[in-house]
Amino acid sequence: MKYAIISDIHGNATALKAVLEDVKNKGITDYIIAGDYCLSGPYPDECISIIRNLKNAHIIRGNEEQYLENLIGQNQESWTDGQMQISYWCYRNISKENLDYLFSLPHIIDFYCNGVNIHIAHSKNAFLGEDGPEEKIRSDVLAYEFKDKSLTPERLEEFVETSIKNNSDYDKTLRNLDAGVYIFGHMHIQWDYEDKDKKIFLVNPGSCGLPLDGVTGTIPYTILDISDAGKVTVEKCRIPFDTEEYIEVLKTTTQYYEANVWSKVIIKELRSAKEHLTFFLQFANKYAEEINDTRRPLAVDTWEKAFELWEKENL
Ligand SMILES: [Fe+2]
Repeated sequence: MKYAIISDIHGNATALKAVLEDVKNKGITDYIIAGDYCLSGPYPDECISIIRNLKNAHIIRGNEEQYLENLIGQNQESWTDGQMQISYWCYRNISKENLDYLFSLPHIIDFYCNGVNIHIAHSKNAFLGEDGPEEKIRSDVLAYEFKDKSLTPERLEEFVETSIKNNSDYDKTLRNLDAGVYIFGHMHIQWDYEDKDKKIFLVNPGSCGLPLDGVTGTIPYTILDISDAGKVTVEKCRIPFDTEEYIEVLKTTTQYYEANVWSKVIIKELRSAKEHLTFFLQFANKYAEEINDTRRPLAVDTWEKAFELWEKENL
């Protein structure tokens, strides 16, 4: 039994369609979809419609879906800040049917396949806690450690192996898990890890829409193969992606105008396949504190000024 595992699409329907085409060409008809279908890319509604129409799919929700659900019932006239512009734009550009669908999705799915336990959650914290052996495998850590160089899948794999094995919490955390496959997204880094003794597989397919694992010009997804006898095989896949073409289209959308600062930060992430948003948010909050602006979410004037200063620092 083969499953295509796809996660963190973030409104990038172009990448999603390219991945689904690749999956179809490989003859795979079953899917595991691990959350974050919208926010940051210009086609959230199309992404959700595509996901909704997948047959044979195990689908959960991510933290971005949760953000949108939190907006239900709010007075849209009060939506005047800068920090949340992307969420407001997104909420207004998803059909009622698709929003209802998102909010009907479960947070966690567990099922058996050929005698193997499979667990799906958007965040690895559901399985490993906050300080598991994989704590160094973060997009901000990667961006810092590989500041001046791009990553190859091989270098990324080495980084993952070393980070996990060198962690003193390895046994403590994995000892608590039962044998099985643990699938999660959220980190935007494609990686997997097998503990042969404990028959535990950790699988993150990376982000099909906004990869932050330093590997530029590609979109990742992962194939999970479980034989009739219960043998588990994990295969990481990457398909070529024309990032610049996608960016040019993004710049023509209403998202780019209505959530301009956010879109510009996302463009930096798309180009480098590295984390920038976390650093910008830290910078903007520090700037707000320095000018004694207590308005949260950050107001438009502070948000835009912070971006202007941050860009100058990061030229
Ligand atoms: Fe995400």
